[in-house]
Amino acid sequence: MVLSEALVFLECRECGKTFGHVLAHVCDECFGALEASYAPSRFSVSRSVIEGRRPSMWRYWEFLPLLDPSNKVDIGAGYTPLIRAERLAKRLGVTKLYLKNDTLNPTYSFKDRPSSLAISKAREFGLKAVGCASTGNLAGATAAHSAAAGLPCYVFMPKSVEKAKIKQAALYGAQLLLVEGTYDDANRLAALAADRLEMGIVNVNLRPYYVEGSKTMGLEIVEQLGWRTPDRIVVPTASGALFSAIFKGVGEAEQAGLISDSRVAMTCAQPLGCSPIVQAFREKSDTIKPVRHPDTIVQSLAIGEPGDGYQALRVLRESGGVAVSLTDDECVEAAALLASTEGVFAEPGGAISVAAVKRLVEEGEIGRDEEIVCCVTGSGLKTIELMPEPSGVRIIPPSIDAVKKVLNTY
Ligand SMILES: Cc1ncc(COP(=O)(O)O)c(C=O)c1O
Ligand SMILES: [Zn+2]
Repeated sequence: MVLSEALVFLECRECGKTFGHVLAHVCDECFGALEASYAPSRFSVSRSVIEGRRPSMWRYWEFLPLLDPSNKVDIGAGYTPLIRAERLAKRLGVTKLYLKNDTLNPTYSFKDRPSSLAISKAREFGLKAVGCASTGNLAGATAAHSAAAGLPCYVFMPKSVEKAKIKQAALYGAQLLLVEGTYDDANRLAALAADRLEMGIVNVNLRPYYVEGSKTMGLEIVEQLGWRTPDRIVVPTASGALFSAIFKGVGEAEQAGLISDSRVAMTCAQPLGCSPIVQAFREKSDTIKPVRHPDTIVQSLAIGEPGDGYQALRVLRESGGVAVSLTDDECVEAAALLASTEGVFAEPGGAISVAAVKRLVEEGEIGRDEEIVCCVTGSGLKTIELMPEPSGVRIIPPSIDAVKKVLNTY
């Protein structure tokens, strides 16, 4: 189904000016961020039609800003499992806990969702090269989708990013520009490249389209719960894009009549050493103070100047949510607990949502009987160097006696 441009357009979040279906990300009147909007008739799709489609993020076609399906770059992102986590719930002292396991995406993080959409749009706009600014996971996702689309890809990311993430992106064929600086330095360089070299940087000039891919995580959660929201969704947060997009997806599911009530307390988790959104929320401030020197091992969430920070603050207030920062140790411990109770192996940044539930329950900010969905956004295999030294490992000679000796000690 090729769609008319009139059904999808960009709109300024601040002043409401509309922009048609163009490659732009900032309002020329007020410098506000642009976001995709849809004519209400675009959302005319039923639950059963969606349920009959392939298990992929693209099953929510009516909610995505692509016009021609032949431009789709689909390597299998989305429709990841939503699993009931009873053993973990017990350990955290809650009764109804679910995990949205986005480690099971083609490049092992949720970033495949926005990348799949952004690279499809790059194709639709006829761009000749693409790229991204990345804290690590987006690099692999953008590089993989560019490889599948046959487009050259340029990745800007801090030199300090975990080795596996660097190798992964390089092996998909991307050109890597490792910046001696922070993510925010890399992001500024990527923005320059977007302007000067007419490149489609997925999270800069393609951003209004890119974030729409992340919306599918919200749509999937409500579908997988039987077309309803949980009480709370807990989201690992850096720029605030995923956090805001999930809420947008849930709201649009209500607009489309797929769910009857979109209320859900959106809960934002950031690492203590880089938590500008949490800080503004806790101080009840309307100003997000940039963090110039992030101080955390959770590099995937180390964004000091969050591009969607103000939007995330609005979502926190509108949804009645809460924001919390966690120490590096809490994130690593949460990753270990998640692996050992549920068999889900996440990076500390991906498991920060679990650490958040633990802390908020202890502090009495989350009720024990709330129905909670923790988004688990990236795989632990990419951050193996951050994981605790394993216990329960013995090196033995190849003899049955050695095995017997070990077993006797259990
Ligand atoms: C594993 C993981 N989770 C969550 C996020 C947060 O995404 P956002 O920048 O949309 O807030 C990132 C960002 O890179 C990430 O790598
Ligand atoms: Zn504007």
